[in-house]
Amino acid sequence: MVVKNLEINGFRNLNGFTITFGQEKNLIFGANGSGKTSIIEALFLLGFGKSFLPVSRRELVNFNAAGFFINAEVLDNSGENRVTACLDKGFSLKLNNESAPLTQISRCLYPLFFSHSLYSQTIDGVPLLRKLVDRFLYGLSALYLHDILRYNNTLKQKNTLLKNLARTIHNSELNSWNALLAETGSKIIEKRMAFTERLNATIGDRFGGALKLNYEPARSASASGPVSAASLLADLERVKGSELRSRRCLIGPQRDRFEVAVGGKKLQLFSSGEKKKFLIMLYMAFIEMFRRARSEYPVFLIDDYDAAMDESNLEYVLDHFPAMQVIATSVARNGRFANLCELKKEK
Ligand SMILES: Nc1ncnc2c1ncn2[C@@H]1O[C@H](COP(=O)(O)OP(=O)(O)OP(=O)(O)O)[C@@H](O)[C@H]1O
Ligand SMILES: [Mg+2]
Repeated sequence: MVVKNLEINGFRNLNGFTITFGQEKNLIFGANGSGKTSIIEALFLLGFGKSFLPVSRRELVNFNAAGFFINAEVLDNSGENRVTACLDKGFSLKLNNESAPLTQISRCLYPLFFSHSLYSQTIDGVPLLRKLVDRFLYGLSALYLHDILRYNNTLKQKNTLLKNLARTIHNSELNSWNALLAETGSKIIEKRMAFTERLNATIGDRFGGALKLNYEPARSASASGPVSAASLLADLERVKGSELRSRRCLIGPQRDRFEVAVGGKKLQLFSSGEKKKFLIMLYMAFIEMFRRARSEYPVFLIDDYDAAMDESNLEYVLDHFPAMQVIATSVARNGRFANLCELKKEK
């Protein structure tokens, strides 16, 4: 996949902005506040319908604009496509001028995002690592998004019920929510398990076996054996009393734990440079899986590359997958990138 060009209007500090990318390694450089992260964020938004930062879409609109418009021409195995995101009264995503769901857009544009803040937060935060794994899984099969959305929707309804009606709730009502959660939840857990196994096997092939992603599904204390819809339902039955007392759902994929470990030691125990290197290895293994599954590369977005990786890691990332498009940002120019674009800060 290749983003050929990008047009941005009314988004963050970018207005009437256009940029053309090279097929391979691109560097956008410029002063602090010139809009580098905003460009990466706009590309991410085209692929995921939202920012990688915890902000609403409305907050992304330029202070002096009523809405934003982002448009990219992208090239993938199937040919050329136009992906558009627009926020005015409502938000819309379009593929070749027709409204399109994310799952359709991900067939021609899958932005893989890496940054310094992401790497440091991901390592320390269970929810962020889970989110990262979910994004990886979505890259390999867009249908995974349906499972997640369906599950989250059901979970929200069950939580509302527990919160508001815990005292009067009817057993059978809770049972039917649990049955739905067990059915979708077990699918998610199975997919996460299979992904973790394949990722670890790919890491093993590439880098030897020291680095591992560990996955621990959130189950009841007495649960054992493999996860299935029936076993998850039995699990939910076991914690029913506690859920009614605490008025919220206590087990399920929304509480699953992922951890990165090297030689059996938690990644948190390693130096900052080592952590960067290991997380890049994880990404590289994912890129390899993506290439095998889809016969092409994702578009690799690296914000503030010099904070996110050391020079030797950068060499590795740039050289390892020569055909992968990389769009990186930095405050300084670097001749290692074939295509350089300087951003000037507007006065
Ligand atoms: N909604 C908005 N409307 C207008 N400007 C905004 C909005 N949100 C953020 N900005 C501004 O946009 C500018 C560009 O921010 P961005 O994070 O893209 O800069 P950057 O080039 O990545 O900087 P750095 O090198 O510090 O990471 C900043 O000055 C920021 O304050
Ligand atoms: Mg930035």
